[in-house]
Amino acid sequence: MKAIAINEFGGRDTLQLMDLPVPEVKPGEILVKVKAAGVNPVDWKIREGYIKDLFPYEFPIILGWDAAGIVEQAGEEVTRFKEGDEIFAYCRKPMVHGGAYAEYIVLEEEHAALKPKNTSFEEAASIPLAALTAYQALFDAARINPGETVFIHAAAGGVGGFGVQLAKDHGAVVWGTASGRNKEYVQDLGADQPVDYHQVDFRDSVRSEFPDGVDVVFDCVGGEVLERSAEIVRHGGRLISIVDDPTGLEKSDIYKEFVFVAPNSTQLTELARMVEQGRLKTHLSQVFPFGLEEAQKAHELSESGRTRGKMVLVL
Ligand SMILES: NC(=O)c1ccc[n+]([C@@H]2O[C@H](COP(=O)([O-])OP(=O)(O)OC[C@H]3O[C@@H](n4cnc5c(N)ncnc54)[C@H](OP(=O)(O)O)[C@@H]3O)[C@@H](O)[C@H]2O)c1
Repeated sequence: MKAIAINEFGGRDTLQLMDLPVPEVKPGEILVKVKAAGVNPVDWKIREGYIKDLFPYEFPIILGWDAAGIVEQAGEEVTRFKEGDEIFAYCRKPMVHGGAYAEYIVLEEEHAALKPKNTSFEEAASIPLAALTAYQALFDAARINPGETVFIHAAAGGVGGFGVQLAKDHGAVVWGTASGRNKEYVQDLGADQPVDYHQVDFRDSVRSEFPDGVDVVFDCVGGEVLERSAEIVRHGGRLISIVDDPTGLEKSDIYKEFVFVAPNSTQLTELARMVEQGRLKTHLSQVFPFGLEEAQKAHELSESGRTRGKMVLVL
């Protein structure tokens, strides 16, 4: 099968179009014919080698942690899927090796859910990783409540965009940072107040409206943005980051947590239901045909940190 993979860590030129064996299905796993693979920042971070001390890995590493496709074979002990089912999945595995930039992928059935009926494979492939991240940050970690004020950094990005929609759907008041050119986009997603972080210090914007601070900050940027965010969380509020660990920050009167998204088929099924009900949408800014140059281009754009919504490769 064709796959885009690496045999060493490094720049975009380490990506190769390889011919690799179709992976074998073990008990509890499904073989999926991939129709589309989502592109996420973690893909180029893996390519660069950022994960090499965090996870076991084996070359060649096929990149890609988001897939949508059709079940080609259901292994022994698989109970939830059968041949021909259209699924989508967050494909992170204990061993970083067999990803979604390929014609086929094997997955534990627990990592997949039936694709929302009203989406294309391209749209479906853009949802799992980013939407699950937002879901777990807002509901499992921050435990947001209706009426609370939730401030989201990088509201125009893949995770932030789902975060805005999920928080709004839950009845929160949603503020978020984005460049001026993305103002209308994040408002359309449901943000009550976009904050152009190039023009104003987000701390001043928050203080003028909420002198005691906001209930929750969901940080998708990290670094100094995370550090400064601690100042705008109210006493007893929550500061959640998916980029840097906030637990060492000095402010002691707030709850702080770093979230690393875990596969979860129950939550993915819930997200699919929300998509079918029209409560959650994905925005595809770039749809690339499956190819080496296209994957390199997608990585280049992702590395820029300026993309709006999501990107996918279509097989
Ligand atoms: N821990 C986890 O489980 C987990 C899961 C998913 C992602 N992540 C990480 O979380 C980060 C976000 O992921 P993503 O998929 O949402 O990335 P993304 O889609 O590439 O984010 C791009 C967006 O970031 C915005 N942005 C960049 N710098 C900003 C700043 N200083 N303030 C506000 N917005 C800014 C840009 O908006 P403008 O163009 O409007 O500035 C752009 O729309 C990445 O570092 C990723 O690796 C972690």
